[in-house]
Amino acid sequence: MREGERAGSAAVGIGPRSRVRVRVPATSANLGPGFDTLGMALSLFNYFDVELAAEGCWVEATGEAAERVPLNADNLVIRAAQAVWKRAGMPPTGWRVRVEAQIPFGRGLGSSASAIVGGAVAANVLAGEPLGAGELLRIAAELEGHADNVTPALFGGFTVVAQGCPGEHAGDIRWVRLAARGLVAVVAVPELQLPTQQSRRILPRQVSLQDAVFNMSRACLLVAALATGDTRALAAAMEDRLHQPYRAALVPGFTQVVQAARDAGAVGAVLSGAGPAVLALAAEGGPIEAIGDAMAEAFQAAGVPARWLALDLDDGGAQVETPDGFRAVGGSRCI
Ligand code: HSE
Repeated sequence: MREGERAGSAAVGIGPRSRVRVRVPATSANLGPGFDTLGMALSLFNYFDVELAAEGCWVEATGEAAERVPLNADNLVIRAAQAVWKRAGMPPTGWRVRVEAQIPFGRGLGSSASAIVGGAVAANVLAGEPLGAGELLRIAAELEGHADNVTPALFGGFTVVAQGCPGEHAGDIRWVRLAARGLVAVVAVPELQLPTQQSRRILPRQVSLQDAVFNMSRACLLVAALATGDTRALAAAMEDRLHQPYRAALVPGFTQVVQAARDAGAVGAVLSGAGPAVLALAAEGGPIEAIGDAMAEAFQAAGVPARWLALDLDDGGAQVETPDGFRAVGGSRCI
């Protein structure tokens, strides 16, 4: 376990250059009770080839929802790259970006966080790595609006993040990252996109003290269970009253999909991020296929075709390609 520091080293042992390839993992945020706080990196990746150009912005995209990726300066990769470039005090430049997307788009699996982290990391490398990992996280969280996806996207593992902490900069970020071992994520991905803004608009502005305590107790239990490897408490620890009961109305079959996963042997199942994908956690060697099939069938029964993916938890986070292979950016280590 490692506590995040404001200016951790982002060094990956390579000097300034004019092009770079970065890979960033998918993420699942909230994990039930940890709304805007908890997140987990998953072994499914988007790849970003970023190159400096004399001027202008060019984007090419292949893979998942390539037709929906903005091919201009509105692209999140470019917006993040420009934000880092500016923060680093670099002179104006143009950008060429190629995206190879494996992460499903608009399903709650961190596709936008991957683009932001990919652009931020790439620009930092191209600028000669002037910014530390903490600064990259702050810029990424500002662009995303919350930090629970961008933190595991950058550092990998299972992360707890708090924004608005006292520190040198207004609204500093503190995070702790740990490895969650012995678990497999089974993710049901429905053929349905749910914009995060829509999924946040439906949430109440205020909650009762009773519901706040309910979630706080589960979130703490979840972190303690994953930190100690004692997964017996996970089923209870993945309950939530802050967002899922409201968002269930936006995801046909949500309650049945969660129940189907549990009945098939998952230790717990929750809405992945803002949805609509559903994430089940299973013990390694558990009935992965039965869980995946049961979740996909429950979505199907609610009238929504769905596929499922079995994903390991990713420990590496954002990585930069070097002549010797991919190297982690965050410099964080798991216990
Ligand atoms: N915590 C966020 C939410 C994750 O649930 O809205 C989605 O980006």
